[in-house]
Amino acid sequence: MSALPDPAALVKDAPRVREALHRAGWSAEALDELLGATYRTHLDRDELAPVLRRTRGGSPLEVLARLLVIGEPVSLDEAGRAGLPDSWLQPEGYDVRCPVRLQPVRHGGVEVQVPHDPGRAATGVDPDQVLGVGAASLTLAAATPRDLVGRSLDLGAGAGVQALLAEDHSSEVVATDRNPRAVAHTRLAAALNGVQIDAREGDLLEPVAGERFDLVVSNPPFVIAPGKRYVYRDAGLDADDVCRRLLAEVPQVLAPGGHAVLLANWLHLEGEDGDERVLSWFEGNGCDGWVVQRELAAPEDYVTAWLRDTDETFEGYDAWLDWFAERRVEAIAFGVVALRRTEGTPTVSLDDVPQPTAATWGEEVRAHFSRLDALRQDPLAARWRLRDDVRLHSVAERTDGGWYAAGQRLQQEAGLRWSGGVDPYGATLLAGCDGSRTVGELLAVLAMSAGLSDGEAAEQVLPVLHRLVEQGFLVP
Ligand SMILES: C[S@@+](CC[C@H](N)C(=O)[O-])C[C@H]1O[C@@H](n2cnc3c(N)ncnc32)[C@H](O)[C@@H]1O
Repeated sequence: MSALPDPAALVKDAPRVREALHRAGWSAEALDELLGATYRTHLDRDELAPVLRRTRGGSPLEVLARLLVIGEPVSLDEAGRAGLPDSWLQPEGYDVRCPVRLQPVRHGGVEVQVPHDPGRAATGVDPDQVLGVGAASLTLAAATPRDLVGRSLDLGAGAGVQALLAEDHSSEVVATDRNPRAVAHTRLAAALNGVQIDAREGDLLEPVAGERFDLVVSNPPFVIAPGKRYVYRDAGLDADDVCRRLLAEVPQVLAPGGHAVLLANWLHLEGEDGDERVLSWFEGNGCDGWVVQRELAAPEDYVTAWLRDTDETFEGYDAWLDWFAERRVEAIAFGVVALRRTEGTPTVSLDDVPQPTAATWGEEVRAHFSRLDALRQDPLAARWRLRDDVRLHSVAERTDGGWYAAGQRLQQEAGLRWSGGVDPYGATLLAGCDGSRTVGELLAVLAMSAGLSDGEAAEQVLPVLHRLVEQGFLVP
């Protein structure tokens, strides 16, 4: 039984809290200004002095920041003046405090308020706790396509951040979670944000069996660990089985042409190809697949990072590493996995993307699959267009007498921010890609200027063009 407060008890008065937030001028920007741009880092490190110093004035926003962001008690009078109803307050000595925390999240042009449980510093680590918005949550939000859709599903909703963001561009949102506290939190989040989310309790896809969605997003409990104690990170399945199961089962609830974006971890085992492992999970699932591998962590680094969020000790570290060693684990991959339900022959691919991406790149998911569709057509008849955000950088090296041109690099300013070297012929060819000429026409000009036959030019250029299309430098 969890010692944490029941979020369901807060739903009734959520509209009053919403009004109090509005009256106080609560927003992500206002809190950044009040608490300082680095306040989240201070809170994560349990350094309260800087944020307490900035909230001594007693204005409604300062009081709400103390109660809902910092988790400090205030006097009952102050809480009342800030507009918080009694149901949202708990006595603490002669003062009161709030049983939940509230995190504003800005994404694209949208801002949502995410209520969640107090973290480790306040209450210790409760295995059932519903965490706030972390780095993984933001990684998924950044990778989610934001086109208008009909039905969306957030699987493993936790505090509800993905469901809230999806609500802005979906006509209907269903959110599921195995943890009843998370379901209650998602309902609270919906009430506080004044939106409709159908929150349901249950294991993986069981609560939505037989239904269809245009978009599925999931930041599942993907951590690969021997224990199954923390519901927010441990699925209760062996090793990386939760991600394998999701790739097999999510397609069953995807409408034709529907997309899913999931975060995943998968193992790289000694003597096995880790890329092949994750790609094999798509077999027979009726979906095109795109794996965007973001990190490959050594077991020691992986365990250290995940233990930080728990109250486990050195014994936990040792046991976890022994468990990896028994399974011959060399590394753990982390990535974003995108699926598109298809009637055709599915294609799957993996890109290693260690570079910093744009703050949001969800538009690349749909675009990636559309580009692959276009690549199946006659390559010489295609009329590619250089994407608007691509820049050509010239690199010069210093010699004794001055600078000499050492090469040119293409750089994307948006999306996955791919970059790569290009020779002068390639640069000229790309400059001609404005959508008005076919590749065949461009190659004929190139062949003439380089003294090649049309066949030789095609042989040299087409594989490069193919990769430039795959990476989104060229678009249909
Ligand atoms: C990493 S949290 C993600 C929370 C939130 N969606 C986000 O992006 O911040 C994973 C969530 O999955 C839930 N979960 C764990 N096991 C599950 C299962 N078998 N079926 C459904 N949800 C599960 C946890 O309770 C937790 O809320």
